[in-house]
Amino acid sequence: MQEQLTHLRAEALAALEKVSNAKELEEWRIAYLGRKGQMTQVLRGLGALSPEDRRAAGAQSNELKALLEQRFAEREAALQAGSAEAIAASEAIDVTLPGRPVQIGRLHPITQVIREITGAFTAMGFQVVEGPEVEWDYYNFETLNIPKGHPARDMWDTMWIDQKNKDGERPLLLRTHTSPMQIRYMERHKPPVRVVVPGKVYRYEATDATHEWHFHQIEGLVVDKGVSFAQLKGTLEEFAKRLFGIERKVRFRCDYFPFVEPGAEMAIDWQGRWLEILGAGMVHPVVLKNMGCDPQVYSGFAFGMGVERIAMLKYGIDDIRHFYTNDLRFLKQF
Ligand code: PHE
Repeated sequence: MQEQLTHLRAEALAALEKVSNAKELEEWRIAYLGRKGQMTQVLRGLGALSPEDRRAAGAQSNELKALLEQRFAEREAALQAGSAEAIAASEAIDVTLPGRPVQIGRLHPITQVIREITGAFTAMGFQVVEGPEVEWDYYNFETLNIPKGHPARDMWDTMWIDQKNKDGERPLLLRTHTSPMQIRYMERHKPPVRVVVPGKVYRYEATDATHEWHFHQIEGLVVDKGVSFAQLKGTLEEFAKRLFGIERKVRFRCDYFPFVEPGAEMAIDWQGRWLEILGAGMVHPVVLKNMGCDPQVYSGFAFGMGVERIAMLKYGIDDIRHFYTNDLRFLKQF
């Protein structure tokens, strides 16, 4: 009897392991726990035993029956949980609901314009590089020929990082323009260099329709032997035509930036008005030296433009703040 129970237990549990669907499970139940199943037969056989043997064997048989019933219930629950109906029920998906169109995202208009502008320059052989937004005074001002205390610093209302060095100065700031990358790039590269640098810049400024405290610029830098002002003009005129149409007229006038000499601004003809879109100039000899280039051998030009300004012109947008309020009615138009 003892042996028979051990054997039945092993066989029944092994068979249960192999069960993989409801039908097989039912067959298993009939074979082992059914009215004519093996467990019932064992229990019936108890009657033939002597009273002492019956007590011991009876207890063991009931134990095995309880075990098989428990395993059966577990298996049944596991199979139900894994079934397609069970998953559908638990996730409560109503498959009869009509579908809704998927919302397609898009690039922010500023990203689109940045790509258009850098695309115009890469077509002319420029590379695109990026730099840090938290910058040292050293790169944002000093090496760009704007020493401490120089009134030219007033051209950029600066947001300083509130952290002093041992001289009590604040050496870190949020870059006010992308020009620091002129120096940073030249520290690691030798001429000939042709790069454009898109990125975010920050100004300590009150916000209105034409001013934001943070906006985007694209810097350009060319350094080589024999770079001329004519090349500066030709490159920037070509850029304006690629971006605003082949008929576009441009105008150059003198302007002042401490890191260029001579300095200029370029305006484009916009519905009969001249609108300034960028500052530019020949890289100042002091700045060339700070770049590690001998001004007797090398020359270069640089330019910087505001991306929002250009995007506003191109798309007829009257308020710069639209770019950063994340109103989908605005953003969906691009
Ligand atoms: N960095 C200047 C600005 O932010 C623009 C500029 C760049 C002018 C390069 C000349 C050359 O106003």
